[in-house]
Amino acid sequence: MRILVAGGAGYIGSHTVKRLIEDGFEVTVFDNFSTGRRELLTGGDLIEGDLMDRAALKAAFASRRVEAVMHFASLIRVGESFRNPQKYYRANLISSLNLLEAMLAHDVRRFIFSSSAAVYGLPEQTPIPETHPLRPVNPYGRTKLFVERILVDYDRAYDLRSISLRYFNAAGADPDGELGEMHEPETHLIPNVLFTLLGRRKTLEVFGSDFPTPDGTAVRDYIHVSDLAAAHVLALRRLLDHPESRALNLGSGRGFSVMEIIQRVEEVTGREVPRVSRPRRRGDPPILLASNEEARRLLGWELPLSDIATIIRTAWDWHQK
Ligand code: UFG
Repeated sequence: MRILVAGGAGYIGSHTVKRLIEDGFEVTVFDNFSTGRRELLTGGDLIEGDLMDRAALKAAFASRRVEAVMHFASLIRVGESFRNPQKYYRANLISSLNLLEAMLAHDVRRFIFSSSAAVYGLPEQTPIPETHPLRPVNPYGRTKLFVERILVDYDRAYDLRSISLRYFNAAGADPDGELGEMHEPETHLIPNVLFTLLGRRKTLEVFGSDFPTPDGTAVRDYIHVSDLAAAHVLALRRLLDHPESRALNLGSGRGFSVMEIIQRVEEVTGREVPRVSRPRRRGDPPILLASNEEARRLLGWELPLSDIATIIRTAWDWHQK
């Protein structure tokens, strides 16, 4: 069974491609390498193409029988989405519409969408269940919510069944050492802490020390990227067996503040992290923590790698390499 993976050369996409292949699926990666990396491709066939190119997309579906699509390709930087919302709405909405259009034209009606915890905005309740109100506080989160809404309408009108996976903070690297995080520029916390130890940054900037959290720094739910990848394959199987659309949180259900992450990195590596306090970043909620009960129950999902020491250790091994 062939799965088309848009954005399969990115961080989460590449880990999922590896897992799909291990599970016996055939994979076609569709990627324009704007942020994806050829080094992160571990198999499957490749179409180098752009989701803005409707003809290229239609040709991709015409040339092979695809049973389902996973859509990882999107812009992901909250700060940039404030400065340039046009870029974000174009990239994240039009690309999704084009992909769905090509799917429908070729009668492909199973879709796994990379959504985000950013759809929730400021939590009224912690941990956050899927039923929490959806009020994103940044343009990036709004792009993800709009695609989720489009999928609800496409389900009703076209019987296109989808699962939107709302990621919390993906982190860590493939335990085999084959894959890992390669963002340019890097904005995420754990790689930036490690880059400080590797001399690729002078100091770690701690954004916000006045949040209403126990130590004043922001709390996030870090989930190992390989556990996240496993959840995609389970969600795909679920969708193929029970074609019902829904949205699911993917998080570990445990929260760590920025300061706690720094301490854990110091414990794992035995080195001290030079740091400096900075103001809050725009659009950063104080705390994002998932209720993952629904995904565990529905998918039979387990998270063997998402303890924080394993996340940091696998990321550290990768970045040192
Ligand atoms: N942080 C720092 N210093 C850094 C990097 C991050 O203090 O150098 C802080 C951030 O301000 C935030 C926390 O660490 O409080 C986590 O930041 P990340 O950038 O690692 O993750 P975010 O929670 O901001 O981002 C995640 C995803 C993004 C997505 C966003 C949506 O990684 O792709 O959620 O809310 F856009």
